[in-house]
Amino acid sequence: MAEAAAASALVGAAPAAPRRTCWRRPPAARRVAGLRSRAAAGDGMPTPLEVLRNDVSCLKDLHGELVAAHRSAHDEVVAVLNPIAGEQMTRALEEQIAGMQAELAVAHVQIHRSEGRLRDTVAHLTELENNVRQSFGSGAWTDGPATVASAEAGVAAAAATAAAAEATAAPAAAPTAAPEAVQQQRPRPAAPPAQRAAAQRSGGGRAGLASRGQPGLTIPEQLKDFWFPVEFSASLVEGRMVPFELFGDMWVLFRDESGAAACVKDECAHRACPLSLGSLVDGRLQCPYHGWEYDREGACTKMPSTAFCKGIKVQALPVAEADGLVWVWPGRPEARAEAGPPPLLARPPAGFEVHAELVLDVPVEHGLLLENLLDLAHAPFTHTTTFAKGWPVPDAVRFNAARLLGGSWEPYPIDMEFGPPCMVLSTIGLTSPGKIERGARAASCKNHLHQLHVCLPSSEGRTRLLYRMSLDFLGWTRGLPGIGAFWKSIAEQVLGEDLVLVKGQQDRMARGADVWANPVSYDKLGVRYRRWRNSVASGDPAVRQQAEASLRQMSAGDIFAPTGGQEEEAH
Ligand code: FES
Ligand SMILES: [Fe+2]
Repeated sequence: MAEAAAASALVGAAPAAPRRTCWRRPPAARRVAGLRSRAAAGDGMPTPLEVLRNDVSCLKDLHGELVAAHRSAHDEVVAVLNPIAGEQMTRALEEQIAGMQAELAVAHVQIHRSEGRLRDTVAHLTELENNVRQSFGSGAWTDGPATVASAEAGVAAAAATAAAAEATAAPAAAPTAAPEAVQQQRPRPAAPPAQRAAAQRSGGGRAGLASRGQPGLTIPEQLKDFWFPVEFSASLVEGRMVPFELFGDMWVLFRDESGAAACVKDECAHRACPLSLGSLVDGRLQCPYHGWEYDREGACTKMPSTAFCKGIKVQALPVAEADGLVWVWPGRPEARAEAGPPPLLARPPAGFEVHAELVLDVPVEHGLLLENLLDLAHAPFTHTTTFAKGWPVPDAVRFNAARLLGGSWEPYPIDMEFGPPCMVLSTIGLTSPGKIERGARAASCKNHLHQLHVCLPSSEGRTRLLYRMSLDFLGWTRGLPGIGAFWKSIAEQVLGEDLVLVKGQQDRMARGADVWANPVSYDKLGVRYRRWRNSVASGDPAVRQQAEASLRQMSAGDIFAPTGGQEEEAH
């Protein structure tokens, strides 16, 4: 019945056209009436041509309307009679609905994510508030300086090693790899202040390992009382200014008229313009703004275009040069008198030649980076596309402490040492160029790679990294064109594998995490660094001496009692 009715409608569409033509005539009639009214108004009767034109125009309108009506009727009938066309229309409608539902689902997920982020932010703020309350409300209690770490003096060193070997025999290490994503970790509630204070008083346990949350990311002021190597001597050529950040302040290095290295605050005393944007005039810094000039002591010696004002100066730091490095002293003068000259730590051993010196700025807290460099156990898991590609995971990784902050790794032929306040030195044994052999000791290997890593505390969350690589073989490669860029590329690839992890740790610390919650035996060197740093941060010489003495007494056997795999010295 429905088909018959539809067919009838289809058949009836054509005969209906004339009726609709008549029904639609009024416009044409109106036009004719208009012609007639013109005649009545004395404009004269329409000519036959005008009448003809009028009728043609009317017929055109009618024809267009008829075609449209016919098409519409045709579509309706096809939709009813043709199941395939009907299905297509249904499908199109369903697809439209499905698309809208998918958009709705995406919007839902985004809303839930936003809610989650909001919850985390509120939790973080609450944690921060609690920390602040505990820090200021309970008087003397403060967490130790921060840290996280994993290590890698050996990393870059190892990278360089592998690269060195491959430079002669095999292709260079593979390009950077994306480290695995750091698993999300919920902020832990802070321990009650009384409990932490008790641990601190006990002088043992994890008191010296404090590394929780934001306080652990704060650079202790007491750390300033050291010599810091801030640039390679070879890079500070005459006429060059090197701006750098240290403990949150901006400084500029340059050479004076005699060629001696100098360091002053990178901030003009007139209008605070960075002096490093200016130029050097006869060994004096000239501000680019109004031309004031400063000598190596920071004293203003010239004020063009105005009467000279005496006594204007910017802060200057004591500077020394040793072992191919420029050192500055940012701390108290009285502490410098006690400390003497820069320590003789950084020089490559006899028989080694420097092959690369690099400076990189990295967006992580310097202690976290140091702890990364002081850890070799992560290499087979982290450096899977560079120097540790294909390394098997050892049954056990150990660090055998031969001195307070140094010793040798096992099973890797790597000797490693932390050099206060921010250096990691390592010597890697290579049985053949570029190959690190497991089970050997560095001293028994034929070739060696020596590395210096300096992690300068630029500011909270930023580090200026100085890296120097020396070899006791492959001396001929030093003159190769592009060799510097080659080493830089290798170092950046290795560092890139670590940075993503260390940045992740930093993020979790900022959310309240403790990066030293469960240290194990291969964390020994990193743990020692953290204890050293926290003892310095205490600001109490007695605490520092006690900490150093207790570290000296710890042999490997003393420190690592079998407490379920946990590192004893950390508890
Ligand atoms: S800001 Fe440096 S001279 Fe004016
Ligand atoms: Fe690493």
